[in-house]
Amino acid sequence: MLDALAALPEDPIWGLTSAFRADPRAHKIDMVIGVYRDDKGATPNMKAVRMAELALAQDSAPKTYRALAGNAVFNAGMARLVLGDAPARIARSHVIQTVGGTGALRVLGDMLASLRPDTTVWSTDPGYVNHRPIFEGAGLKPQLYRWQAKGDALDLDGVLADLAAAKPGDVVLLHGCCHNPTGIDPDADMWHALARFCAARGLIPLIDIAYQGFGRGLDADAAGLRVMVDAVPVAMVAASGSKNMGLYCERIGAAMVLGPDAASIAHVGRHLETLTRANYSMPPEHGAAVACHVFDTRTIWEEELNSMRARVQSLRQQLADALAAIDAAPAFQALRHHQGMFSLLPLAPDQMESLRRDHAIYGTATGRINIAGLRSTQIEQVAAALRDVSQA
Ligand code: LMR
Repeated sequence: MLDALAALPEDPIWGLTSAFRADPRAHKIDMVIGVYRDDKGATPNMKAVRMAELALAQDSAPKTYRALAGNAVFNAGMARLVLGDAPARIARSHVIQTVGGTGALRVLGDMLASLRPDTTVWSTDPGYVNHRPIFEGAGLKPQLYRWQAKGDALDLDGVLADLAAAKPGDVVLLHGCCHNPTGIDPDADMWHALARFCAARGLIPLIDIAYQGFGRGLDADAAGLRVMVDAVPVAMVAASGSKNMGLYCERIGAAMVLGPDAASIAHVGRHLETLTRANYSMPPEHGAAVACHVFDTRTIWEEELNSMRARVQSLRQQLADALAAIDAAPAFQALRHHQGMFSLLPLAPDQMESLRRDHAIYGTATGRINIAGLRSTQIEQVAAALRDVSQA
């Protein structure tokens, strides 16, 4: 039976991460996976998280089963974090804890597939590499819509032209902030235009918000999402605490479903719980318990998150400055204006391969780099390598 298993290609992110780990070169630089690192190359446990873990260790709460929907305090905290301090919006939402943002996307995909199996999920091109597998895994049809115009801008005309082919009830997958991989986000006017479009066409926005706090700030990064969910009767959100709480391996996420009013979401919870029950039963508690403490010490958490964001923004400017100083191609300057951890370099797969092979610098084959993986002492090495491979 097992000999029927075909050899599959490696995951585009995890395959390169393994190759990086196996690379013996001392000067290697990992800009592949979306993980924040400090200037020593370490991913810090945030102060609010360390405080939470000490308090939890002292409490030593029993490890009995929790609820199918996960930790209710965590769910309420995530609703406030993402949807804002907005009782009317929160009253029309139902939230469950999920196994990371990926788990949220999948359970929402499973719910859509059970409600309407012929739903098409429209996702950005370029987009996050795991979106398509997640929704195909749920049995839904994927379609792409344009995102990036030539250069550094969002191609709003292209977005709306491509989405004109979507049918009412189709899902439009959007990135709440810090678009992965381009770093190109809609401005406020564009969010309003997208919201009017989805409302007028009966499209269901599903907003993946995995980098809240890494663009402009916790609330500013959710502003477009809030415009969108207010404009439409039905919306969905997949949120993650991996990056903004640094809880990557704890797999902390939330799936949210918003209906037209509180009564309309009465059956959502049971439906989502039935789907997770048949899969992993319930999400793990530890990360959610940590997150509850983090919400309670928001000022401490937010200050550290703000300084992480400022560091990534400073690395962007330093890299763009270093590229300008050595007369690298002007197209590289676009990375100066991007939001969040990622930028998509104007480099072809063979140039990214050369970056890896000849310079020990790892980004994805499609040209994505994680700026948050850089140390300031590596900037000149990276700038010189980028110029070299772009001129080859
Ligand atoms: C990434 O895009 O690098 C992250 O979201 C990590 C992942 O699981 O893909």
